[in-house]
This record gives sequence, structure tokens and C-alpha cells, in this order.
Amino acid sequence: MYKYLKLSVAILFASFVLISCSDDNDSPADFNATDSDFQNFRTWTLVAEKMGPDPALGAAHEGNDETVTRKIYIKQDVSLGTNGEYPLGTIVVKETLKEDNSVIAITAMAKRDKSFNSSHKGWEWFILAENGAIGKDANGDDMRGANLMDGMCSGCHSTASAKDYVFSK
Ligand code: HEC
Repeated sequence: MYKYLKLSVAILFASFVLISCSDDNDSPADFNATDSDFQNFRTWTLVAEKMGPDPALGAAHEGNDETVTRKIYIKQDVSLGTNGEYPLGTIVVKETLKEDNSVIAITAMAKRDKSFNSSHKGWEWFILAENGAIGKDANGDDMRGANLMDGMCSGCHSTASAKDYVFSK
């Protein structure tokens, strides 16, 4: 009887060690956005709605056109964490509209794991189609990545590094 008890205690201990080891080895899962992650972004929290020229923008995002409206939405209303960064999976979408509300462009940024775009805090950049799906370029490739627009997204947004690259919130 005592022998069995010892055995089961040993098994219990062994499985405990196994479980805690596998926990230690788990790196947090990366966030690799798909079309469905952007669905219904117009129902997310509206962080800002801007019109008129913005010196930080220059000509980017039609920032020099006074008639254009820029709407910025954030998914699940997340905030900057105490570590100074947005949580993994954060998505911010920016829609640029004409006076008649037709869409000029939709851009987005999603927070990935540190191993992705490590020199720019893990942000992935996107250009979305009007229906909110990930846009395609002339070759049919997804318009997304760390170096979208030859690194211009990362480069300009790095001037907002104190707010983890998000200007508007
Ligand atoms: C020349 C600077 C510049 C470049 C280049 C640029 N952005 Fe922005 N972006 C801004 C500024 C400034 C804002 C703040 C909102 C506003 O005033 O329109 C902004 C806002 C955004 C937002 C809303 C979140 C926020 O930071 O406020 C997203 C998403 C975004 N940009 C995506 C992109 C993507 C994707 C690219 C590349 C295809 C890009 N941006 C290129 C300057 C830039």
C-alpha cells in the first residue's frame, strides 16, 4: 500500500514538473492578423476624427487636403499598458474620407510579437480594401508587412514612439 502511495506521489510530482516546464517554454503566441480581424472596424471605438492639414502628416494620408476627414478606430478600446506599449493583438485603423464620405484610403497597424519588426516595436502595417479586407497590390500580394511603403510607415510613426507609434490616442 505504502509502495503505491509513493508511486502515485512520484507520478504526481513528475507531471507537475512537466506541466510547469511546458509553461516556462511557452512564448506568447504571435498575432498574425487575417481579414476577419478587421471586420466591422467602423463599429470599434472612434478615437479621433480630424479634418484639415496636419503638420506631422505633410502629404501623407491626404493630410494636406482640407476637405478630407480622417477617422481613427481602435479595436476593443485598448490602452497603452504600464510597460508603455499596446497589448499584443491591438489593431488601429484609419479611414480617410472625401466630403461625400467616399473612401480615399484605409490604413491599419497591428501589434505583433517582438520578433516581428523588432526595430519598430512589433508593429505590422496594412493597407485595407474598402470592404475592410487586407488590400492586394498589382501583383495580387497582400499589402502588409513591417516594411510597407519601403519602411515609410514605420519611419514616420517612430516619431510617436513615446505613445508606442500611435499618434492619435
Ligand atoms: C509622414 C508621416 C506618416 C507616414 C509616412 C504614415 N503615417 Fe500613418 N499617421 C501619421 C500621423 C501624423 C497620424 C495621426 C492621425 C492624423 O492626423 O491623421 C497617422 C495615423 C495613422 C493611423 C491611426 C493611428 C495613429 O497613429 O494615430 C494608422 C493606422 C496609420 N497612420 C497607418 C499608416 C500606414 C499603414 C502607413 C504606411 C502605408 C502610414 N501610416 C504612413 C503619419 C504618417
